[in-house]
Amino acid sequence: MVGITSLTDKDRIFTNLYGFQSPELKAAQARGDWDKTAELMKLGQDKIIDIVKESGLRGRGGAGFPTGMKWSFMPKEPTPGRPNFLVINADESEPGSCKDREILRHDPHKLVEGALLAGFAMRARAGYIYVRGEFIVETEALRKAVAEAYAAGLIGKNAAGSGYDFDLFVHRGAGAYICGEETAMLESLEGKPGKPRLKPPFPAGAGLYGCPTTVNNVESIAVVPTILRRGAEWFKSFGREGNAGTKLFQISGHVNKPTVVEEAMSIPFRELIDKHAGGIRGGWDNLLAVIPGGSSVPLVPAAEIADAPMDFDGLKALGSGLGTAAVIVMDKSTDIVRAISRISYFYKHESCGQCTPCREGTGWMWRVMEKLRTGDAHVSTIDQLYDVTKQVEGHTICALGDAAAWPIQGLIRHFRPELERRIAERHGHIAEAAE
Ligand SMILES: Cc1cc2nc3c(=O)[nH]c(=O)nc-3n(C[C@H](O)[C@H](O)[C@H](O)COP(=O)(O)O)c2cc1C
Ligand code: SF4
Repeated sequence: MVGITSLTDKDRIFTNLYGFQSPELKAAQARGDWDKTAELMKLGQDKIIDIVKESGLRGRGGAGFPTGMKWSFMPKEPTPGRPNFLVINADESEPGSCKDREILRHDPHKLVEGALLAGFAMRARAGYIYVRGEFIVETEALRKAVAEAYAAGLIGKNAAGSGYDFDLFVHRGAGAYICGEETAMLESLEGKPGKPRLKPPFPAGAGLYGCPTTVNNVESIAVVPTILRRGAEWFKSFGREGNAGTKLFQISGHVNKPTVVEEAMSIPFRELIDKHAGGIRGGWDNLLAVIPGGSSVPLVPAAEIADAPMDFDGLKALGSGLGTAAVIVMDKSTDIVRAISRISYFYKHESCGQCTPCREGTGWMWRVMEKLRTGDAHVSTIDQLYDVTKQVEGHTICALGDAAAWPIQGLIRHFRPELERRIAERHGHIAEAAE
C-alpha cells in the first residue's frame, strides 16, 4: 500500500467535469480560465517548456511520454515555409476510455487556452484539434468554445493581447480507432486514409504536411494552464516520484457507480474504487480481474491489483500499464475468455492492414481466442497462441499490433488454468458423446 492522500476539491483542475455549470466562456472565466493568459505568456516560450518539464507531466494519451521534453524537440526557430504545428488528439476510441469527451463537452475552454499556451511554447502558429467522428455533441461544444475565444480576441491575431498570433482549427474524423495513432492522425488531417507512418522521421522532425509537429492528448494540453498558474511544485505534489499530477480516472464495469473522476496519481486501486465508484459489485471478494488502462493493456488479477498504486510505474511493475487510466473492472460473473476474445475482435476490426503481422495476426489471434473460449482446442494451442502474440508484438509499424497482443498475453499469464479447464471440459463432453 502506498501512502498517497486523495485529492480535495480545491486541487481539482477540471472543476466542471460533470457539467453542473455552463461550458461557455463567461462561466469558464468565472472558474479561472483565461485569467491573465498574456501574463503567463510573458514567462517566455522556453520558461513555459521548463515549467512543464519540471512539473513531471507525462502524456495522458497512453504512453506516458514526458510532455515538456516532447515540446523541446520542436525547432526553436522554424524555417520559413516550414511552420511548427500543434495537433491535439481528441480521437479517444480506446474501449474503456471516456475522459477527453468530458473535457470537450464540459470544460472546453481549458483545452482552448491550453492549446494557445502549448502552441506558443512550441512556436506553433496553428493548432488542429482532431475529434473522433462520433463525438457530435462534443464537437459542437468545442466549436462553440473556439468561436467564443476568437470573438473575445483570446485566440487569432494578437491572441489574448499577447502580441502572438495563433489559429485553432477543429477537425472531425470519420470514426476510425487507428486515426488516434499520431502519424495516422497526420495522414488523416492531410486528407488521406489514416494509415500510420514509419518512424523515424518522428513528427517533431517531419509531421503535418512535412512540417515539425507535436501531437498531444486532450488531457495533456488541458492541464497546462493550471500547471502554469499554480506552479510545477503544486502539480508535482501529487503522485509518486516520476508519476506526477492529478489524473482523470475512468471507472467502468462491475462497480456500483461507474464514473470519471479526477484523482491524485498513484492513489491505491482499492481507495479509488471505494471512494468514487461505490465499491465492487458484490463486494471485494467478488472481484476477478481489472484492465487498468484501457483495452490494450494486460489484465491484472484481483489479488495483485487491490492495493496497487494507480500510476505508470506501479502498473508496469504488475506487467500491465496505466494507459489512459480507463479502469475496466470485472467481477466473478465475467466470462474472462470471452471478454478478451471480444477485445481481440476489436483489434482485428481496427487494423489498418498495412503490416502483415498485424493484418494476418489479429484475425488469427481472434479466431484462436474463439476456439479457446469454447474449449475447442488443444493445450498446445495456448502456447502456440502465446508464441504468435510475441511475433506480432514489436514487429509492426504502429503499436496497434502490441495492443492486440498484450490482452491475450495477460489472459494466458494469469488465467491459463481456466483455458485448460475449458479444453478438458470440452474434450470430456466429446468423449462422453462418443461412448
Ligand atoms: C492504435 C492507437 C490508437 C491511439 N489512440 C489514441 C487516442 O485516441 N487518443 C490519444 O490521445 N492517443 C492515442 N494514441 C497515442 C498517440 O499515438 C500519441 O502517442 C498521443 O496522442 C500522444 O499524446 P500525449 O503525449 O499527450 O500522451 C493511440 C496510439 C495507437 C497506437
Ligand atoms: S500495426 Fe496494424 S494498425 Fe498499425 S500500421 Fe500495422 S497494420 Fe496498421
